[in-house]
Amino acid sequence: MNSKEKLIIFDTTLRDGEQSPGASMTRDEKVRIARMLERMRVDVIEAGFPIASTGDFDAVQAVARAVRDSTVCGLARALKNDIDRVGEALKDAASARIHTFIATSPIHMQMKLRMTPEQVLEQAVDAVRHARQYTDDVEFSPEDAGRSDVDFLCQIIEAVINAGARTVNIPDTVGYNIPQQFGDLIRNLIERVPNSDQAVFSVHCHNDLGLAVANSLAAVMCGARQVECTINGLGERAGNAALEETVMTVRTRQDVFPCETGIDTTLIVPASRLVAGITGFAVQPNKAIVGANAFAHESGIHQDGVLKSRETYEIMRAQDVGWNANRMVLGKHSGRNAFRTRLKELDIEFDSENELNEAFTRFKDLADKKHEIYDEDLQALVTDAGLAAENERIKLVALKACSETGEKPQAEVKLWFDGQETQVMAIGSGPVDATFRAIDSIIKSETELQLYSVNAITSGTDSQGEVTVRLERAGHIVNGQGADTDIVIASAKAYINALNKIIEPADRAHTLRGTGPQV
Ligand code: KIV
Ligand code: ZN
Repeated sequence: MNSKEKLIIFDTTLRDGEQSPGASMTRDEKVRIARMLERMRVDVIEAGFPIASTGDFDAVQAVARAVRDSTVCGLARALKNDIDRVGEALKDAASARIHTFIATSPIHMQMKLRMTPEQVLEQAVDAVRHARQYTDDVEFSPEDAGRSDVDFLCQIIEAVINAGARTVNIPDTVGYNIPQQFGDLIRNLIERVPNSDQAVFSVHCHNDLGLAVANSLAAVMCGARQVECTINGLGERAGNAALEETVMTVRTRQDVFPCETGIDTTLIVPASRLVAGITGFAVQPNKAIVGANAFAHESGIHQDGVLKSRETYEIMRAQDVGWNANRMVLGKHSGRNAFRTRLKELDIEFDSENELNEAFTRFKDLADKKHEIYDEDLQALVTDAGLAAENERIKLVALKACSETGEKPQAEVKLWFDGQETQVMAIGSGPVDATFRAIDSIIKSETELQLYSVNAITSGTDSQGEVTVRLERAGHIVNGQGADTDIVIASAKAYINALNKIIEPADRAHTLRGTGPQV
């Protein structure tokens, strides 16, 4: 019999994670990430802040419709209109949660809200009661709890639990707390609030001092049974507690923790890659769990020890978090069946037979250029195929780029744009620059390039380059991705992918930051 309590994993990659400057995601990208989180058995997925924009509303609604096995949550300030928008967006969810918040620290109440503590308490209670009309699953957060007066926190928490909040989340909004103090705060609240047994205590820690995971885990040791976290630690400013670090610490140190998560840890690395690819936020090589070097041993003494017995220097197994050690899986002669089977093993599904066929054609093209196809190649290839939506307005028809010592690099690009083919030539400071200039001379997008990054997907000079391009136009930010063994072609694909997102018709709206209230 299992005597351990459950630690609820609440993922906010799609909400707080998207608040990282530049990490905006389209509705379809959010659905892809949400499906991955569902497969990982994340308990609660916070999908967005519906009042912020129609894009946010659409994304939360789409996630609520796509996900069946995880609870889908939407964020609302403690205001009726905000809560009504979340209620509407979550109408079709199999399991819906409304998360409402109001600030409780003296500085936030006085300077931001210009409200007295009594007014804040009344508004919090009204908000929770209103949210309960939509669902029994209501979460309340006293924003900036980490800098709030403990007596006032006890008062407001007791009142919102009486009003029907079933989860009480304690945010360290500005990342100011340190582990022992934060753990003591949680223990204190649970002990002092008379009805604390009627709610799950949750924590939401920011990483301004690099302590988000440590603070969250200190809170778990003191009674918190939900942790709010994000893939790769994405989030506002320095980010939130990283899901992968939180989950793997609890799993690895079962000798210490009185609880366990239900997460399928073998999907951690695929989820990390998916989020990094979509947001363009690359993972640093020495990042715990998901960094490229997390399981690599450089020193001779370490290598010798690991060869003799893995446990000498490794506390986790790479395969338990989803590292496949660059396994060669398919090649030029592999057939459709092997391709389909391997994708299935990687948990990659297609919406239609057409999509599978298109991905298979791309696989064959890639296998012509590259001998050994690894799992990482398949993942990039499928993402790439997923990006080539039928209603895209711009398509790359042909590209020729030249660079030669002593000569100006130049590129000749043929594009299909709204049904018309155009060919142009441009020069630039390098072949990628020349390619982008050529494309832009046709599209005239008036966008600003905010980020250009290239990553080798696997090792070896025949590796595919995975390129991310971030564009901005009038406060609207998008990320584009492209992968190819030729990095100039990968760059062109990524640029065109970003342009398609920024110029696409309004019915496929994106999250537009800056058009509505911000958290
Ligand atoms: O950091 C924070 O306080 C938040 C709340 C909305 C929970 O993100
Ligand atoms: Zn936050």
